Amino acid sequence: MFRFRWTLCVIFFVSIFAQADDSIYRDSNQPIEKRVESLLSQMTLKEKAMQLTQGRIGKNDNPNNIEKTKQRFNPIIGSYICFQTDVNIRNEYQRRAIEETRLGIPLLFAYDVIHGFRTVYQISLGQACSFNTNIVEQAVRVAAKEASQTGINWTFSPMIDVARDPRWGRVSEGYGEDPLLNADFCRATIRGYQGDDLTKPDTLASCMKHYVGYSESLAGIDYAYTDISERAMWDTYLPPYKAGIEEGAATIMSGFNDINGIPAVCHQFYLTEVLRNRWGFDGVVVSDWAAIRQLKNQGFSKNPLVQGAASLIAGNDIDMMSEIYMRIPKMVNQGLLTEDVVDEAVRRVLRLKFRLGLFENPFTEWVSEKDRYLQPEYMEIAEKLAVESIVLLKNENILPVTASNKKIAVVGNLLDDHDALLGFWSAHGRGEDVIGIQDGLDLYKPNGITFTDDLDEADMIVLCIGEEQKMSGENASRSTIKLHNEYLVDQYSSYQKPIVLVVTAGRPISYQSIESKVDAILHMWQPGVVTGTALAKILYGIENPSAKLAMTFPRTVGQIPIFYNRNQSARVGNGDWSGLYQDIESTPMYEFGYGLSYTSFTYSNLVINEDTLEAQVTISNTGDRSGKEPILWFVLDPEASITQPIKKLKSFDKVFLKPGESKTITLSLDKNIHLSYFDFQGNSIFEAGTFGIEVGGLTKTFKVD
Ligand code: GLC
Repeated sequence: MFRFRWTLCVIFFVSIFAQADDSIYRDSNQPIEKRVESLLSQMTLKEKAMQLTQGRIGKNDNPNNIEKTKQRFNPIIGSYICFQTDVNIRNEYQRRAIEETRLGIPLLFAYDVIHGFRTVYQISLGQACSFNTNIVEQAVRVAAKEASQTGINWTFSPMIDVARDPRWGRVSEGYGEDPLLNADFCRATIRGYQGDDLTKPDTLASCMKHYVGYSESLAGIDYAYTDISERAMWDTYLPPYKAGIEEGAATIMSGFNDINGIPAVCHQFYLTEVLRNRWGFDGVVVSDWAAIRQLKNQGFSKNPLVQGAASLIAGNDIDMMSEIYMRIPKMVNQGLLTEDVVDEAVRRVLRLKFRLGLFENPFTEWVSEKDRYLQPEYMEIAEKLAVESIVLLKNENILPVTASNKKIAVVGNLLDDHDALLGFWSAHGRGEDVIGIQDGLDLYKPNGITFTDDLDEADMIVLCIGEEQKMSGENASRSTIKLHNEYLVDQYSSYQKPIVLVVTAGRPISYQSIESKVDAILHMWQPGVVTGTALAKILYGIENPSAKLAMTFPRTVGQIPIFYNRNQSARVGNGDWSGLYQDIESTPMYEFGYGLSYTSFTYSNLVINEDTLEAQVTISNTGDRSGKEPILWFVLDPEASITQPIKKLKSFDKVFLKPGESKTITLSLDKNIHLSYFDFQGNSIFEAGTFGIEVGGLTKTFKVD
């Protein structure tokens, strides 16, 4: 009898503990890792497989996303790309996941919030030209608010593919050709999305993409093979991801590209050795759309179970739209995969959901669209960003436009094509939200300015042309970087009037055949909903342009790849551009860091203290109007065991100066940050020797022991 009673007691206590353990994951006072283990320990293999699966709800708005099966909602799938914007529908899906499944694990709702959600602002490549991470962080905060109020809690952004080939349409999505620029704007974007507490309802989990080296696409063709040296990986493509992990990025998306023979989605060295073992990243890695299934196209394997097992073992946690991870139980049963590998991926997904506070706050509070979108302060931030990112490439004393009775003819395809001003990845932005060019020019026109359609009577032509929305972005590679409608420049220059050329594009454009036919060029990128007012303020001089190029503009497509931080050639050509073409100038049309202002800035007194490694320079506004100036500090390392680029951007800042005002800017160099480089194994190497510091065209050499 005693034994029976004793057994009953044991069963009772075990059941209490078991019960207690079962409920730990629901207890928000428990540490996240305990909650993760408590929940994981109760999940079946099938439930784990579904947590690692990502589906789609709402109408897919990206025509490049290939779908094989008819999507239907299943409450035990772990995450969805949510294309629809009805919060009530989103909350109903969430209710079903919580109430109609055994463990009630809430869903993640993801979307591509790339440069705005409804208040669409400047594309990322344009943002980088502002050299102002603060205004970008503010704009990203706006996107996070609009998206989170629409039920999204995970965005597939920032895209930080260092890009050097403007034939590739996706250069529009990243922050240009320099690793530091991509790294610093990555940090700012993560701060903007994630804020200081991911459990707050107006935050989004960020997702750095496309890991890694996707932009090295062969010949600028999207989705193509990438042949990347270890050196380029460590020095160029990986640093922005390391910066983002230091900033607390919640997730990463693996790329479509095949990296030297091993596709990114199943590349164990980069997904596990680098991300996990070296950098300690404990967030989620999600594949790109159907990338696991595409391993067949890339010649890796035709067998979906092999594709899935290889990707999971390599370190890719979530399967976006291949519907292959659903078959994990079969992979385990066939010995292709062990359950502990599955568990590690599920841990990361559950950890993300706990970090987002989804178990405590799974639903989105409904806010009317009027109060959710396009708020005045949102438009103001978008306009500030646009003004600081429009690049003045040429100005033959024609800008800014002042009164003196000017009759202006405003012409070009951009006047009516508002989608072109939003750019690719315009999310839920709408053409009708855009303040058009003519409206903006009307709104801010100075007294004395009138508009005319009569080109013969006009004093000046503002010619607004550019790429259509679909000509850049995903799957928008082009064999030329000339504007498709550059013929309009010839057409309008026949009127023999001064021409201000205003261009939108998602990429660097070849201006070679049109530059001499116009008097001014404003390269706007794709400024978004505030294009009209931002352009007007620049044109009329209400704002002074301050942007500088974050990506080199070639003269012609034949020069590609051409970028500033290249290594020296064995025979130095004209200037510091090594090698010479026989048929054209070998220098670019516009270099990285180029951009004009309506005032002039002079740099002087560059000094560096070789003991403290503190550099100083004085910058003065020598013109007659206030302006902002990005300050770009480059380091030169002319002699190293592994040869270094001609120069590398190592820090940037932006200053505002009134006419006649001067400021002394200081940069404290750290030899392990600014003067070191990566070897072929990714080790940071510092070698004593002679270096150079360059800023504003001034250079100083210095020795470091
Ligand atoms: C696309 C893109 C990726 C995007 C994903 C989801 O194919 O490559 O950048 O986040 O699919 O839309």
